[in-house]
Amino acid sequence: MGSGANDRSRDGEVRTGIRVGAPIESGEVCPMEQIPDSCGLVIFGASGDLTRRKLIPSLFYLERKGLLPDDFFILGAARTKMTDDAFRDALKEGVRKAQADVFDEAAWDGFAKRLSYQPTDYADLSAFRELGEVLASLDRKHGTGGNRIYYLAVPPSLYTPITTQLGESGLSQADRGYSRIIIEKPFGRDLRSARELDQHVHNYFSEEQIFRIDHYLGKETVQNILIFRFMNAIFEPIWNRRYIDHVQITAAETLGVENRAGYYEHAGVLRDMFQNHMLQLVALTAMEPPSRFEADAVREEKTKVFRSLRPIPLAHLEQHLVLGQYGPGQMIGQAVQGYREEPGVEPASQTATFAAMKFHVDNWRWQGVPFYVRSGKRMARKVTEIAIQFKRIPHLMLQAVMEESIAPNVLILRIQPDERIRLAFQTKSPGFKSCLRQVMMDFCYQEPGQGVALDAYERVLLDGMLGDQMLFVREEAVDVTWALLTPLLEAIEKDNRVPVFPNYDAGTAGPADADQLLDREDDRWRPL
Ligand code: BG6
Repeated sequence: MGSGANDRSRDGEVRTGIRVGAPIESGEVCPMEQIPDSCGLVIFGASGDLTRRKLIPSLFYLERKGLLPDDFFILGAARTKMTDDAFRDALKEGVRKAQADVFDEAAWDGFAKRLSYQPTDYADLSAFRELGEVLASLDRKHGTGGNRIYYLAVPPSLYTPITTQLGESGLSQADRGYSRIIIEKPFGRDLRSARELDQHVHNYFSEEQIFRIDHYLGKETVQNILIFRFMNAIFEPIWNRRYIDHVQITAAETLGVENRAGYYEHAGVLRDMFQNHMLQLVALTAMEPPSRFEADAVREEKTKVFRSLRPIPLAHLEQHLVLGQYGPGQMIGQAVQGYREEPGVEPASQTATFAAMKFHVDNWRWQGVPFYVRSGKRMARKVTEIAIQFKRIPHLMLQAVMEESIAPNVLILRIQPDERIRLAFQTKSPGFKSCLRQVMMDFCYQEPGQGVALDAYERVLLDGMLGDQMLFVREEAVDVTWALLTPLLEAIEKDNRVPVFPNYDAGTAGPADADQLLDREDDRWRPL
């Protein structure tokens, strides 16, 4: 944040010169750093985009930070035929791109020794038996004690065949060490398919072996929500219906569907963002303090929030849900096409790229406090944040001032892209008159000298190796969230309860109706 004089921000409020967030001397308290036990990581989908763009750059970064065990190997598996060297070369380019400013040739050469590749037909049991032999020899070579992690970086349609072959070839149960499986989202596409997938995976892996990814949970700022709420004494007493008017959770993206139409056309925003990322943010904002900062305790409290979410009344769906799809528009002065014109999208597609929803958490703490949750593609700007808007002051002592003109306090947990925590409050403007103005107290994560934050994938890969399931989604949470959303998806898709699409221009704040969903007065916080 700024260092001295006040300045007016883009949002129009005055930013104070109060300096917060600078590390206080000897103020850092850290648990012991843990290095995972020796292990081998098998990546299915090793020739794909996720492996090249995210997984390998994250593992390389972990290596450079000294966070990987000395005895560690990565075995790529995919249908493409390729040699070890061709695999390494393909990945090197991805890492070079991802870490253009800090890429180091010598470090890469050391890391590349850990990499090898095995062409694998996912439908062929004998290919998995062969994979098992390769794994056994890598295990001997690297001394990894039989510890294995299987990462499914493949389209969801391959989750079932791959887990079947892993199970039938005996690879899901380790003779020595452990076997774990990391599964990407989406986990199912509705309640029935998620349950079927779960039952299937459980035929071969126990719940302790299953790590379901929601990469949002690996974001520094998302992890900070619990630290902020429960490691400070001043916020928790006011974190309830007596003081909070409403909560707004926003994840707006400027990107469109990109080259993912094949997946997105069948998913849409509710499956892509709400069932997982958005509901996880609701849970972290609304949950009770866990007794210990441990996977079971934290995940149990989050699941209680999911169980407390009031089912959306289908008879009044429109009062709780607004859907949108972007049409052509302007992004930073450039004309961009609408969703229906994107490659691979049906010209009359009914897929929603935006949704705004009103939730209620039916428990003592949150009774009567609406949670407005919205997410969309091709929005005016990229911002993910949780805004806690507090109630108006109960009594106005300045008789000559209109009550409505005093903006209520807002606490903003900005998840990305500028990671910060901000608090809006009223102060007196300097001068002889008692004029009020809203100012922002602002803590920014990006202060120089505060250390490098781990990227979401670095965090979840590390936790997977450490066997810590806190940032992974539990079976019951998947079930309850799908149970909440499936009736809506059916109403939308089977009964075609969608507005006329497209209904917002690319580069805007979404459909106008979404604003009306927030039945608040004009003083509400506007993130877009
Ligand atoms: C993914 C969705 O899970 O999250 C994408 O499939 C979305 O559609 C992405 O763009 C957003 O993640 P992030 O980390 O860029 O906010």
